Amino acid sequence: MLAASVAGCSTPGRAPQGTANASAVFDPQALPSGPLGASIALGHDVIVNTQRRLPRNVRADMSCAACHVAAGTVARGGSFIGTYARFPQWNPRAKRVITLQDRLAECFLYSMNGTPPAYTSAEMIGMVAYIAYLSRGVSSGAPQAKSDSFLVALPPSPPNVVRGRMLYAQKCSLCHQATGGGVHGSFPPLWGPRSFNTGAGMANIAKMTGFVRYNMPQNAPGTLSIQDAYDISGWVLTHSRPVFQKQRSISQPPQPAGFF
Ligand code: HEC
Ligand code: HEC
Repeated sequence: MLAASVAGCSTPGRAPQGTANASAVFDPQALPSGPLGASIALGHDVIVNTQRRLPRNVRADMSCAACHVAAGTVARGGSFIGTYARFPQWNPRAKRVITLQDRLAECFLYSMNGTPPAYTSAEMIGMVAYIAYLSRGVSSGAPQAKSDSFLVALPPSPPNVVRGRMLYAQKCSLCHQATGGGVHGSFPPLWGPRSFNTGAGMANIAKMTGFVRYNMPQNAPGTLSIQDAYDISGWVLTHSRPVFQKQRSISQPPQPAGFF
């Protein structure tokens, strides 16, 4: 599990939106008392320890916090602050208005290369409670700006994957390994059979470039230029990964409707 690294509070240069540190956004000691606080705490744990909590729903060797850094408390690290206020929203891929549960289900289908838990499960409700808690104070009901965590202006030419390969060896393989397979329990895989599948947002070069630019290398985030992050992402995305198969993934209840 990534618990040690995604706790994140001590990682330099990782201030979440508008606050000094991640613990100000999520302090387990400061949650509402009673069942709601317990549900929020469970949701946090599901996002950090997804494989352990939901082994039957996750095929990729990663937690939600592999991409939503420090459990979604870091600006430009897949932050969940304000996410609750963006739902329900129109979803072009589903071609319908989706709820937050539907969006979580998407990340299970694509990023986790798995299957979503039931919408009424304690884990799903906990994740919604946690994201609502992180979004407290952000007003809902108005058309909300889209998430811009990973937004960057891409260079005009295609990525230079030869340069990307060289930079990968220097800056990334220490943790994610030359094979791209990562180290189970510490560093998530970037490609291969245990990575996110072809339907995932991270398989989009623009999103990966933004993620890498602002969050990687994990021991020195912010040190790469956009061109560096773009070339490395281009190299990472030349490798194979699981292909999203709708028939396999959306097969039996309890599942979201077959819109995805
Ligand atoms: C491989 C990386 C990856 C993993 C793992 C992952 N996600 Fe995501 N997630 C993304 C990307 C990329 C986006 C799109 C962000 C954007 O467009 O700004 C996203 C978006 C989201 C959003 C919408 C955020 C918003 O404000 O609109 C939610 C909610 C979410 N993910 C939840 C989860 C949950 C819960 C899990 C674990 C079950 C998970 N994600 C696992 C990459 C990932
Ligand atoms: C010091 C170890 C370390 C280095 C070096 C590093 N990473 Fe990561 N990477 C991590 C960890 C740990 C995570 C999980 C998120 C977190 O805790 O910040 C992660 C997550 C990721 C993710 C999202 C999850 C996934 O598996 O797809 C991508 C993409 C990624 N890293 C790319 C890179 C790239 C590209 C480089 C080189 C520029 C790099 N990383 C260098 C440790 C590292």
